Amino acid sequence: MNRAEKLEKTASHVFHRHFQQSYPVAVRGEGCYIVDRDGRRYLDASGGAAVSCLGHDHPAVIQAIKDQLDRLPYAHTSFFTNEPSEALAEHLVARAPEGLSKVYFVSGGSEANETAFKLARQYFVEVGQPERHRIIARRQSYHGNTLGALSVGGNMARREMFQPLLIETSHIVPCYAYRYKQPGETDEAFGRRAADELEAEILRLGPETVAAFIAEPVVGATSGAVPPVAGYFKRIREICNQYGVLLIFDEIMCGMGRTGTLFACEQDGVAPDLLTCAKGLGAGYQAIGATLVAERISEAIASGSGFFQHGFTYIGHPAACAAGLAVQRTIEDEGLLDRVREQGAALRTRLEARFGNHHHVGDIRGRGLFLGLELVAERGSRAPFDPARKIFARVRAEAMARGLMCYPGGGTIDGIRGDHVLLAPPYIVGTDQLDTIVERLGEAIDAATATTEG
Ligand SMILES: Cc1ncc(COP(=O)(O)O)c(C=O)c1O
Repeated sequence: MNRAEKLEKTASHVFHRHFQQSYPVAVRGEGCYIVDRDGRRYLDASGGAAVSCLGHDHPAVIQAIKDQLDRLPYAHTSFFTNEPSEALAEHLVARAPEGLSKVYFVSGGSEANETAFKLARQYFVEVGQPERHRIIARRQSYHGNTLGALSVGGNMARREMFQPLLIETSHIVPCYAYRYKQPGETDEAFGRRAADELEAEILRLGPETVAAFIAEPVVGATSGAVPPVAGYFKRIREICNQYGVLLIFDEIMCGMGRTGTLFACEQDGVAPDLLTCAKGLGAGYQAIGATLVAERISEAIASGSGFFQHGFTYIGHPAACAAGLAVQRTIEDEGLLDRVREQGAALRTRLEARFGNHHHVGDIRGRGLFLGLELVAERGSRAPFDPARKIFARVRAEAMARGLMCYPGGGTIDGIRGDHVLLAPPYIVGTDQLDTIVERLGEAIDAATATTEG
């Protein structure tokens, strides 16, 4: 490549995700579609990364942000509180699982989890148990890319390069029935066995050293919408209570209505001590995340040192909170939780009709409008594709070529082997659009799996 060609190739000064890939330039949003500079339209079947739950041009949300910018764009939280953050906290707490009574607003998912880990740690220092510092998580989970969140995440491939920088964490088995439930085992028995690994790990580490256990109620990006079996989280809650360990639910991807209830854990009948959310909170209209905090944790800090040793420049950002509030009000005003359940069932029916006997689709799973397909080389044996074929990346490219955004991932089984496709369309997705999603996805999967070369 000569210098002129190199310059042409590197004309952009943006540090993009992949150097070997070129990206269409997105210029406009229209409902469930993103339109690029050449006028091509992409049907968004994944909300980007399960973010854009109201589509890409919701007028009430856009107006709320404009109004807030006209009034007050920003005021640092060491000097002021602000109206949108107060109102959004009130809205969330009024609907939150039992016991959660305070909200710490940040700018995204990783920050929300870092906040949860530090709150867990400070809580134990405040209540006179300073030896509690360890965090236990599950393999094949994703909790973010900042160093603390990456340390806790269970996707080994994402961690490998940064291993020397990571904090020591333990990982137990995920509640991933398609791969881990044994033949003849009931859901209850499998859930119990998977949950009991937490108890074994707490005992191995020494309960007096363990601060928290974190899990995504429905596992998203790294596993493809894996829901727990019935009873699993009840047993997890029991174990946490027994050993005085805090339970953190990472609802960054699965929360805010994505599974058909505002909080995913409502469907498991279990309340955590800390809950993080982000993507569907601001629906992509602004960068916002939040950590919901149990009364006993905030109370321990309030009546102890009185100050959480933490903070970022943009916490409680007024424009971000105004967006979050407008998104959450829209979800209620437009009855979108019902719609997620209805359209989720309709999408699932279509997926089962199209892929239920597909040679390369081993499992169809998820809740609400948060659905995953696990791709396999052979349905009967559940054997995965050779990871070198990068089937997931091919599916993404084939889908984009057909004007469809979906969210495939690799390393589903152990960070290296396995492929899945995650679907998380906007809650406003139309029934015709569901047909289009399944039709284009079917073509993309067939094209991606038909190729045999490397
Ligand atoms: C479950 C979960 N936790 C945490 C994160 C990290 O969020 P962010 O990318 O906003 O930092 C993500 C992002 O995909 C996620 O899905």
